Amino acid sequence: MTRRFLPLALGAIAAVAALIGLSAPVRAGADDDALLETARALFAPLPTDYATAERPITPERVALGRMLFHETRVSADGAVSCARCHLAALHGTDGLPRSIGVHGKALPRNASTVLNTAGQFVQHFGGNRADVEEQAARALLSPFAYGNPDHATAMARLAAIPGYRPLFEAAFPGDPDPVSARNWSLAIGAFERTLATPGPFDRWLAGDTRALSPSARAGLATFVETGCAACHNGPLLGGRTYQRFGITMDYWQATGSERVDQGRFEDTKNDADRLMFKVPPLRNIARTAPYFHDGSVATLGDAIRVMARTQLGRTPGDADVARIEAFLEALTGEVPAHFREAPTLPPGAFTAAR
Ligand code: HEC
Ligand code: HEC
Repeated sequence: MTRRFLPLALGAIAAVAALIGLSAPVRAGADDDALLETARALFAPLPTDYATAERPITPERVALGRMLFHETRVSADGAVSCARCHLAALHGTDGLPRSIGVHGKALPRNASTVLNTAGQFVQHFGGNRADVEEQAARALLSPFAYGNPDHATAMARLAAIPGYRPLFEAAFPGDPDPVSARNWSLAIGAFERTLATPGPFDRWLAGDTRALSPSARAGLATFVETGCAACHNGPLLGGRTYQRFGITMDYWQATGSERVDQGRFEDTKNDADRLMFKVPPLRNIARTAPYFHDGSVATLGDAIRVMARTQLGRTPGDADVARIEAFLEALTGEVPAHFREAPTLPPGAFTAAR
């Protein structure tokens, strides 16, 4: 049933290759112009930000959102902020197989990066958040993340810090109730929409032939030839579709996962969604170990082997894995300075139970 996705997607790649006159699959060392043409058909350079008409980025919203991203006094135990699980030093992740939330609770999943995340069609592995704004609003109420009983409690904690009100007023001029959960999510969303990380791959796509090393170029050819781009495509190399995790074998046999997470089905309870996960972007993937929704695989090389086996029924040799790794390394971009540096927060005590 879900198996039909793969041949379809691979067919699309073959069609692209045929369209641009590649009679044989792209091979390591093949003509660089042909490789660039194939890559431009499958991928695209990153934008510089993720603003949309409905979600404008203003300096006031970004400055406020950047503070709120680090704000722990809005959580039930006064210790949880976005930055706890999305560290700039770890390219927007926490390095743990599964995150630790409010009151030391283990989350069911591995923390995805917040870098470039606003460029995806939905948020979370199961796609149960429409955009970064909805994600930020609902994190406040998650029993695993901030642990607030309702938005009013969370906003009362924030309003108890006097320095915030003028910042909300500046970011949302004319709003009679500026310190609101809606504005919390719009400000954090605006901040996240600035977190784009263009890197060597983007410079190469733009025509700088020396931006990718020969091994990264060979790895790109192997990535396409192996079939990875059937699912990992577009500017983020993912973040555009749901696909089944485990097409040619059960994923947990390859990952050694302790629990069988059913992906999208966990939320929708619709049989067609069983084992369907959002295809994660591969931007900065070399810096965001451990891998997969449960952090069950420690190294990038092993993650590549798991993908080849579970999605494509292939067992790549060590040289092919190393080449793909060299390509994925070229997807690493620089963490923006305003994320790397922590902001100074307005002073005030944490208001515990109300
Ligand atoms: C206790 C750890 C923790 C905290 C606190 C936390 N997150 Fe996350 N975050 C996670 C985990 C784990 C996931 C993966 C959840 C899933 O896919 O089911 C995630 C996923 C996300 C995603 C989706 C990324 C994607 O690729 O789909 C975004 C965006 C995000 N978090 C932003 C935030 C923001 C903004 C905050 C603060 C308001 C926050 N997170 C607080 C652990 C955390
Ligand atoms: C049929 C679709 C499909 C194909 C083909 C595919 N992937 Fe994936 N990939 C996925 C999905 C879905 C996930 C998310 C699995 C999970 O964590 O639940 C994923 C996850 C990953 C991850 C881990 C991402 C993270 O943030 O932890 C890496 C790395 C990866 N894929 C690389 C590859 C490579 C390399 C290939 C080719 C050998 C490949 N993929 C082929 C669908 C696919």
